[in-house]
Amino acid sequence: MLVSAAEMLKKAKAGHYAVGQFNINNLEWTKAVLLTAQENNSPVILGVSEGAGKYMAGYKTVVGMVNGMLEELKITVPVALHLDHGSYDACYKCIEAGFSSIMFDGSHYPIEENIEKTKELVKVCAEKGISLEAEVGSIGGEEDGVIGMGECADPKECKMIADLGIDFLAAGIGNIHGKYPENWAGLSFETLDAIQQLTGEMPLVLHGGTGIPTDMIKKAIDLGVSKINVNTECQLSFAAATRKYVEEGKDQQGKGYDPRKLLAPGFEAIKETVKEKMEIFGSIGKA
Ligand code: 13P
Repeated sequence: MLVSAAEMLKKAKAGHYAVGQFNINNLEWTKAVLLTAQENNSPVILGVSEGAGKYMAGYKTVVGMVNGMLEELKITVPVALHLDHGSYDACYKCIEAGFSSIMFDGSHYPIEENIEKTKELVKVCAEKGISLEAEVGSIGGEEDGVIGMGECADPKECKMIADLGIDFLAAGIGNIHGKYPENWAGLSFETLDAIQQLTGEMPLVLHGGTGIPTDMIKKAIDLGVSKINVNTECQLSFAAATRKYVEEGKDQQGKGYDPRKLLAPGFEAIKETVKEKMEIFGSIGKA
């Protein structure tokens, strides 16, 4: 059964590790992430962006697929199904479809409006036992056509949003989605520290987990990050493994064109990437 992410992140915060949110794109992705979590006895959060939800034929399809897999694959570790960077409308659609966690990304609204909409969603989510993530300070890079500049959040605004009763908070600390450019200045630990000082026990979320050096990830966890989002890195390893298979001409040998064979190396590559991240995040054995 799907669970809210609130409990697993509280535990992560107390235990000084982070739970990975791995974004899913299709059946192979979902199965790879769930099996890796089960094999490593790790809690896990499946992230679904609005674009990915649409691609997978809608949120209800995603809920059906994930619930089916939990049962058929006998997944017993805690799993949350989480809307990633949701608009106000998408939040309501996912609540209705059966997601167990949502992110309302109101970072592009003026802070007053972000507060107002977040407050409303806090109430709705609390009634349904769904966990809620909010965002302050837009996160850079491009994700599904949404472009942020990678700003650092204002710790006082973070405190205002944290106090509304959300379960975890995403705050920009110089992190960006996708690959990091050569001249990236790195994470602002000063900002992270200031946010955590003000928000106390609130689990913080680090978006843009792809390509952040391991020492920075560990320091971020030390300073209060309890959830780390990873998307691009699984896409890169899936693409590289699939490319290798095709370039070696394997799709043209025997029944190598069978999708179950063609997509197998990419599937294994996702599993490997997810396991590596879980090791770095410290969530293995914490289910
Ligand atoms: P990456 O694609 O950079 O790993 O970021 C994922 C993310 O933050 C999803 O919200």
